[in-house]
Amino acid sequence: MSANLDWGNLGFGYIKTPYRYVADYKDGKWGEGKITEDDKVVLSECAGVLQYSQSAFEGLKAYTTRDGRIVTFRPDLNGERLENSAARLEMPVFPKEKFLEAVDMVVSANKEYVPPYGSGATLYIRPYMFGSSPVIGVKPAEEYQFRMFCTPVGPYFKGGVKPITIRVSDFDRAAPHGTGHIKAGLNYAMSLHAIVDAHKNGFDENMYLDPASRTYVEETGGANFLFITKDGKVVTPKSDSILPSITRRSLCYVAEHYLGLTVEHRPVKFSEVRDFAECGLCGTAAVISPVGKIYDHGNEICFPSGMNVMGPVTKKLYDTLTGIQAGNIPAPDGWIREIK
Ligand code: PLP
Ligand code: COI
Repeated sequence: MSANLDWGNLGFGYIKTPYRYVADYKDGKWGEGKITEDDKVVLSECAGVLQYSQSAFEGLKAYTTRDGRIVTFRPDLNGERLENSAARLEMPVFPKEKFLEAVDMVVSANKEYVPPYGSGATLYIRPYMFGSSPVIGVKPAEEYQFRMFCTPVGPYFKGGVKPITIRVSDFDRAAPHGTGHIKAGLNYAMSLHAIVDAHKNGFDENMYLDPASRTYVEETGGANFLFITKDGKVVTPKSDSILPSITRRSLCYVAEHYLGLTVEHRPVKFSEVRDFAECGLCGTAAVISPVGKIYDHGNEICFPSGMNVMGPVTKKLYDTLTGIQAGNIPAPDGWIREIK
């Protein structure tokens, strides 16, 4: 039985579903995790997350395939990335195996909220963890909570796969040798002023450049970049302060092994961008959102693919990736985890 939602018209918002997962870390170990209906978190006023933002999160999706199975896409990589985020933030690692178990439990408990095949919607899963015990001197908390909820979502950008307009930001996102390569909540707090300001000025997102030299492309607030050259190569920016997107890594594999394209993962100078034929943002939430135009302090870069449709190579990548996720195209080994 499916929940009674208007699946075709969902935005990217929070809809409370009945069940979530919770596990507590106390006395140096993780307790047994469990499913709960309680969506409220009660914390000390001095909790580490409230004082010093000690938190990290993940994002992944569950899909209904054409033959009615419910699957998640490469959740092991989200588990690994959360392990890395926790280590960098001096939080106890929530083991990948338990992470996978929790994903299965949450999706399975909320099955009627997994959008039907072909609806355009998906079930977005949000794992997160934070310091819960009091800290007042600057140091890691001693107790933590890991939680995971899910919410049905539509496209991240209004208009679905219509090309968007972004601007080069004057604000920085992640410092060299900082936390840009992990999914720390603080990275997103840093980006809030920049995104509100971008929206106020009529842009959908920010393109962040490397803070040290402002000459290389990094990423946006919530997705990696993917460019297509005029001769059909796929180029993705490389930097130590970019989040290693699972979607981007998967698309590069698809480009090479399914579509026979050449892939370059390398530093990308901003000055090169005007020579690319197509540009897109890739991520779990964004899937691939085509970029039609980049505004840079009075100058505009308009991609030949225009403002109406996705560029042809981006479209092939999009169709292949979403085809794999929906079970219509055979997936590489280990990419799809079926929820029983
Ligand atoms: N970059 C940032 C800053 C993000 O928040 C996300 C979203 O998770 C991504 C990139 C895309 O990563 P993934 O494809 O693993 O969702
Ligand atoms: C995701 O794509 O899962 C993210 O976490 C990005 C976020 C901006 C919604």
